[in-house]
Amino acid sequence: MNIPNHVAIIMDGNGRWAEERGLKRSEGHRNGGLALEKIALCAKEMGIKYLSVYAFSTDNFKRSKEEVDYLMNLLIKYFKDKLLTICKEDIKVVFSGRYNPLRNDVINAMESIKNTTKDNKKCTLNICLNYGGQEEIVDATLKIHYDLNNNILKEEDLTRDTFYHYLYADLPPIDLLIRTGKEHRLSNFMLYQLFYAEIYFTDVYFPDFLETKFKEAITYYQNKDRRFGNVKSN
Ligand code: FPP
Repeated sequence: MNIPNHVAIIMDGNGRWAEERGLKRSEGHRNGGLALEKIALCAKEMGIKYLSVYAFSTDNFKRSKEEVDYLMNLLIKYFKDKLLTICKEDIKVVFSGRYNPLRNDVINAMESIKNTTKDNKKCTLNICLNYGGQEEIVDATLKIHYDLNNNILKEEDLTRDTFYHYLYADLPPIDLLIRTGKEHRLSNFMLYQLFYAEIYFTDVYFPDFLETKFKEAITYYQNKDRRFGNVKSN
């Protein structure tokens, strides 16, 4: 019943989860990775077609070199280790974000998982890495400018729907945004695609956001009356 087509998650609270347990922040990220695997499989089982997750923002490069290096190495290991599971589960992995200034070994691991899973059909996992929502709109604008100048795109064909084709991954609008970890803000995440999303905030830190909690968020969505600017129909 009324399963959202596209769910997005701001996976916040890994660091605090670890600090509250007297662990290093890196342990929080590692456990966040384990939670993500469970959520992705659960989403696929529920029939959710698109799952977007915020793995690393352009602003996360401001963190210590040690934490950035740890996260990048975790991502490479994650893409390599989880590849078989992801393929077996028929999940396609795509990425959103800028390659520059990502390390070559990170880019290679991204390309590899993207190519290996490209024909998978059940669910698309969009990993936002070195991602910023305003940057995405600026980059789309530059591509549109190029296409207009080269007669690839006609001005009258640019609409709010066709604009999606110019975003990093050509995905449908987001129906439900989940943010874990107590904060109530968008943090420059998928600004264009979130235009009519329902938003679910939870105090739970991401490493503890497992299947039951995810299903609670979906139930919250299912109880919403989505009118898209229209009035309620009887
Ligand atoms: C926010 O928590 C989380 C991140 C910056 C990274 C998210 C990464 C993962 C869940 C790891 C695995 C991801 C993939 C795609 C394999 P925070 O560090 O800002 O936590 P805090 O607000 O408590 O400090």
